[in-house]
Amino acid sequence: MTTHDTLARPLRDLRISVTDRCNFRCVYCMPKELFGSEHAFLPRSEILSFEEITRLARLFAAEGVRKLRITGGEPLVRHDIEQLIGMLADIPGIDDITLTTNASLLTPQRAATLRDAGLNRVTASLDAIDGGVFRRINDVDYPVARVLEGIEAAGEASLGPVKVNMVVKRGLNHDQILPMADHFRGSGHILRFIEFMDVGNSNGWRMADVVTAAEIRDTLATHWPIESLDPNYTGEVASRYRYGDGGGEVGIIPSVTEPFCGTCTRARLSAQGELFTCLFADGGYDFRHMLRQEQASDEAITRRIQALWSARADRYSELRTAETAGQRKVEMSFIGG
Ligand code: GTP
Ligand code: 5AD
Ligand code: SF4
Ligand code: SF4
Repeated sequence: MTTHDTLARPLRDLRISVTDRCNFRCVYCMPKELFGSEHAFLPRSEILSFEEITRLARLFAAEGVRKLRITGGEPLVRHDIEQLIGMLADIPGIDDITLTTNASLLTPQRAATLRDAGLNRVTASLDAIDGGVFRRINDVDYPVARVLEGIEAAGEASLGPVKVNMVVKRGLNHDQILPMADHFRGSGHILRFIEFMDVGNSNGWRMADVVTAAEIRDTLATHWPIESLDPNYTGEVASRYRYGDGGGEVGIIPSVTEPFCGTCTRARLSAQGELFTCLFADGGYDFRHMLRQEQASDEAITRRIQALWSARADRYSELRTAETAGQRKVEMSFIGG
């Protein structure tokens, strides 16, 4: 059965955060001042078990979810994540399981195990191709070469074409647009530039820091002719382009200047089991409480999913103003983007 929300959007995607931890400290996501050695990450007991996640995912699939995305923090720091992928792959109705990772832990062997467990695709985050700029962003002195190896490993393991996400922030890495495009042209991977968003409250977002989709298009076009492509499916967040000279595909995710709330079919489950119906929500519904304290039945959980989704009216990106950017919102590292 498919429930629609108040704006007639069906529930199709469930993005599952499996940990709030990450081995990077990207300056715009987990700045060291806020995520230093004193930061209290969630203890194991507060994080949903694989059985709990799988049970929820099965009930969500029965309500229309077809696509699962595993996120974090960094999902590959959670032990035995392959086992979870295997459990999720057995759920009837799920036809795509993807993983968003910083690719630092993606060895060829790990990539093969993930694929064998049932993972279909990998999306890698990489914000610069210059080693110095990349180290400045990840803030843990991580070499770019290791991430590039991880991306290759995913491709070799048939987890591609790998989508490579680059968040563009003015003054931080906007000078990397052309070098990144140059590196990934013709590689078989699909680079996507993401407008810097005001997620959470710790990244000090200002509109002036957003390099707009129009600017990114113009920058690319000064070097290579690009042509627009049709979306692969309704509601795809990336605008797709093709290099006119055969250099392959490139994308732009214009969440700030050309928001796509009208077709947003995404729900997000945090590592501790809260359901967020928008990336910019300030709170989520506590499914862990339902699972553990209430010992809720499948029917009760299903009714709750239906009630939450049918009441959903979120369209934050369409309503964004300078004032809303200051509202209390969940942190990106908590919910995985
Ligand atoms: P596939 O088409 O399945 O490959 O995935 P995708 O294109 O949806 O990409 P992905 O899930 O990797 O999302 C890429 C980026 O788009 C995220 O890191 C966010 O920055 C942004 N994004 C994704 N979903 C949303 C959303 O619901 N709202 C907003 N505002 N941004 C989003
Ligand atoms: N704006 C846009 N994208 C972001 N991400 C993290 N923070 C932001 C932000 N402020 C991206 C990461 C990764 C994905 C999980 O979300 O770079 O690709
Ligand atoms: Fe980790 Fe990704 Fe956040 Fe960087 S952007 S700190 S890799 S979760
Ligand atoms: Fe969906 Fe909220 Fe993002 Fe709009 S801002 S696309 S409603 S998650």
